[in-house]
Amino acid sequence: MNADISEIQTFDHDVVVIGAGGAGLRAAIECSAQGLNTGMICKSLLGKAHTVMAEGGAAASLGHTDERDNWKVHFRDTIRGGKFLNQWRMAELHAQHAADRVRELEEWGAVFDRTPDGYINQRPFGGHRYPRLAHTGDRTGLEIIRTLQDYGIHQGIHVHQECTALKLLKDSGKISGVFGYWRDTGRFVLFRTKAVIMATGGAGKIWRVTSNSWEYTGDGMEMAYSAGAELIDMEFAQFHPTGMIWPLSVRGILVTEGVRGEGGVLLNSENERFMFNYTPDRFKEETADSPEEAQRWLDGDTSARRPPELLTRDVVAKSIMKEVEAGRGSAHGGAYLDIASRRDGEYIKRKLPSMYHQFKELAEVDITKERMEVGPTLHYMMGGIAVDGDTQMTAVPGLFACGECTGGMHGANRLGGNSLSDLLVFGWLAGKGAKEYVRQLSRPLQIDPDHIEEARRQAVGPLNQEGGENPYLLHEELQNIMNDVNIVRTADGLKRAIDSLEELKPKLANIYAAGSSQYNPGWNQALSMRPMFIVAEAVARAALIREESRGAHTRLDFEGEREEWGNINIMICQNTDGSMDARKVGRNSPPDHLAKIAYSNLEDLEGGVHV
Ligand code: FUM
Repeated sequence: MNADISEIQTFDHDVVVIGAGGAGLRAAIECSAQGLNTGMICKSLLGKAHTVMAEGGAAASLGHTDERDNWKVHFRDTIRGGKFLNQWRMAELHAQHAADRVRELEEWGAVFDRTPDGYINQRPFGGHRYPRLAHTGDRTGLEIIRTLQDYGIHQGIHVHQECTALKLLKDSGKISGVFGYWRDTGRFVLFRTKAVIMATGGAGKIWRVTSNSWEYTGDGMEMAYSAGAELIDMEFAQFHPTGMIWPLSVRGILVTEGVRGEGGVLLNSENERFMFNYTPDRFKEETADSPEEAQRWLDGDTSARRPPELLTRDVVAKSIMKEVEAGRGSAHGGAYLDIASRRDGEYIKRKLPSMYHQFKELAEVDITKERMEVGPTLHYMMGGIAVDGDTQMTAVPGLFACGECTGGMHGANRLGGNSLSDLLVFGWLAGKGAKEYVRQLSRPLQIDPDHIEEARRQAVGPLNQEGGENPYLLHEELQNIMNDVNIVRTADGLKRAIDSLEELKPKLANIYAAGSSQYNPGWNQALSMRPMFIVAEAVARAALIREESRGAHTRLDFEGEREEWGNINIMICQNTDGSMDARKVGRNSPPDHLAKIAYSNLEDLEGGVHV
């Protein structure tokens, strides 16, 4: 198949946002507001994004349900939850601006649940000292997407739906275009642009059990990496403790942490509330040590400590695993999540309507009467494209990134609800950063036709083969390999995974899609394989280098955190020969004002000014 590149459909924009979830939408709104001609590429339909899987709420220190909350406590919780590996400046910006971004959403039409006094209601979530999650029942991500979508399309954003971006194009090192194709017709498309904001989300599909849907194949991380950007913290992949585990056909679908936020408890096969046995030392001072104290906390007693079910996700996910290993797992190898015995049916249906319907329809379980069965599911990548916190620009001039496809903000473990506030804050900042960059560009940018031809040739490769590797089977092989790069890891398993990925590379080069480029899901799948391989390799290599257990990265051969590793990030970039370079990089010490907050006593921070 040959195409005349002069016939490739072309669009001109000042900035192109790749990805139309919450981060992409918020970035595009800001770009438009700054007067930029803004194009947005969605791989799927507008609004179909993993943002909706952040069901339980957006974390922001509004202080509506506990007035002791403020940005400093939020910052401190985020850093402690991230096991002190977060990029300090990003965590600071996030905590400082989250509340304003949530208020702004309300002005744009988002409907949040209310307190009896009429303020935005906030619910408890893991690792957050106070009830902090602004929420709309258990459909918060959906409400945020709906609001941004409604608001965004009236700002003059040009939306290009069902379009997959394949490659970033550069002029003398600066971003000058994006090459992609329409998923239905298979026709190629070129976007000339002065800046790109990558907002493509994560790469959950490299694992078998995940809350992510088909779109999440790491495209943005791969495009940025191939264009010369660095990836950071790739060893940290978050397993949300509660995904559905039964029936098998729905395994991995998210069960919101909001269930535990509303008082749900985890039980083992002996009906024991086992989370009381797993509180790490770091969190002892803020975690209840008896069911009575946990209940008092839920009832609003501010002198009580929060329930252990609201420990951070890394801790809860591993605790469930340990119970299963000890032979105390649920019938299908997870744990029981019980809200039925804690709240009345009407309350459950009002605060958790999606969970009620999800279990009723998919598992024939009535959660107002019966326990749910849950287990860990890959939910979020803490690692991703390295950016400057203030501008969100990567190492490639003109390439910006925001949301889950970036790394650094959440350190070794993300707190629930910080994803929605992250995408609002950093989408906003990326839009501002792009505007500033575009304003300073001194000359028009060019696109080299040879680069387009090379991208086109790579894309049609799978169609031009006589035969070869089936992309679906290759995907399965990749997911099998990732069993060694799962919730717990060892050097042997990680080496095996890296070797297996190397062995599969010839197969990747020989991937085959039968038929033409039109309406061809096999070809779509084939084109998503390189991104998945790159991300898988990055995760495995970084995980092998980090010889300790921290947050979401657990090494059975190196238990516990090691002090020296608290000062190191692992950075990944592409070598000139195309191979992957993974190396340790020393971290800067925190500025004094942030160190003081992160290591301070809570009492010193409470009741501060809301920024
Ligand atoms: O459990 C949840 O509702 C997920 C929230 C998040 O990932 O932030």
